Amino acid sequence: MIFEILSIVIGLYLFMIMYFNYKYPEIRWDWDTIQTDKVEFPEKFIWGTATAAHQVEGNCINNWSEFEKGSKPTGEPNIKDNQQSGLACDHWNRYLEDISLIKKLGVSYYRFSVEWSKIQPEQDVFDEDVLRHYLKMIDALLENNITPVLTLHHFTHPIWFDRLGAFEREENIQIFISFCERVFKEYSSKVSYWCTINEPGVVATQGYFSGMFPPGKKDSQLSAVVLKNLLDAHVKVYHALKKMEHGPQVKIGLVKNINQFEPWRRWHLLDWVISNRVNHFYNDSTIEFLRTGIYKIRIPGLAWIYHKNVNAMGSIDFFGLNYYSHNHLKMQFSPKEPFIMKYPDGDILTDMPYTIYGEGLYRAIESVSVLNVPIIITENGVADARDDRRKLYIKRYLYAVSKALEDGFDIHGYFYWSLMDNFEWAFGYDMKFGLYEVDYMSQKRTLRDGSQAFIDIVKG
Ligand code: BGC
Repeated sequence: MIFEILSIVIGLYLFMIMYFNYKYPEIRWDWDTIQTDKVEFPEKFIWGTATAAHQVEGNCINNWSEFEKGSKPTGEPNIKDNQQSGLACDHWNRYLEDISLIKKLGVSYYRFSVEWSKIQPEQDVFDEDVLRHYLKMIDALLENNITPVLTLHHFTHPIWFDRLGAFEREENIQIFISFCERVFKEYSSKVSYWCTINEPGVVATQGYFSGMFPPGKKDSQLSAVVLKNLLDAHVKVYHALKKMEHGPQVKIGLVKNINQFEPWRRWHLLDWVISNRVNHFYNDSTIEFLRTGIYKIRIPGLAWIYHKNVNAMGSIDFFGLNYYSHNHLKMQFSPKEPFIMKYPDGDILTDMPYTIYGEGLYRAIESVSVLNVPIIITENGVADARDDRRKLYIKRYLYAVSKALEDGFDIHGYFYWSLMDNFEWAFGYDMKFGLYEVDYMSQKRTLRDGSQAFIDIVKG
């Protein structure tokens, strides 16, 4: 009897492992035989580069600048070595010089965000000078034949909004909509591409699960609620803006980072369970919500939600895909840290805690193609202070895009992250994502050698 039960259990285990391995393969290409120089892009393909206000502008007083001053319950500073964003790249004053740098790359699109805390320093005050500033920047871009792509929320919001509970509270969504409507009214005659919210999944998981981002909480159920509210906020903003003048003519999308979570041991059921649930929360729940209007989180003991919003269907004109890499998760028996990240031997690490994985961009494109809307790669790039991996990264990831195009995926554009080095959130200024290196003492920008690979493909 015991023998029979044992063989059923083992049989079941093997069946599940085989099923998971078949259903979620970790694609690996043989890069030694791939000719990454053989890439082709349609003539109308959108080439651009991207930044976000808090990371480049300087002097932002918002939820992040507050967080930068604090530390974790362990006493560790919130930001590596207690760094603060401060003047950043002084893009606020140097945007004309930066536009000339964009032009030199040969790209004709620029994705940037407006800083909500500067535009609306108090709940009932809109700063006309700040609104004029962004208008001048948009005009300067257009005069230089660069199409502006405007993000309304890129991780930061005013301190007063934070005090009201930010996106923890459903009631606050209306406040965000009013801000978006105001910005749209100002610029919609000149800006034809709009991104509502940048990476709701990152805001929810880093802010409320890992505690690496503000408000630094660790509450998985709240994290799921915040993600729901951010997604609802996107849907409501989309429909509100579509009703306004120019709304029907412009393109409005949501920007989502895809990061595949893989089991470290492909024969270990617990590694599969962990990676599967993290994927479910981080990637699949958002795609499902946009596809069906149903937001469902099912992680027993950690987060459990069912929510329906039929307006989510048809709430994007394009899918803004941010992609960097994947992560391998290894389960361990520790209530404090149930899993750890691992990096396969032989994979090339970037300066961020992940590896170069061009195949992943192809997989990400494939996974979001179920939404049947044009895909714009709104971010992709590498942190590489030594500049000895940038060229390889660019070639492999753009090869993946070219292959996806060849295979029929509807990709309209690609934005390199980032135009220049900038304040990389919890990692401070240590991460060097820029096509241009920034010397923060002199504010001098210098093109990196590795960036030439991007310029060659764009111009080629
Ligand atoms: C964010 C950027 C960030 C980049 C690199 C994305 O998640 O949108 O603000 O700098 O990743 O980490």
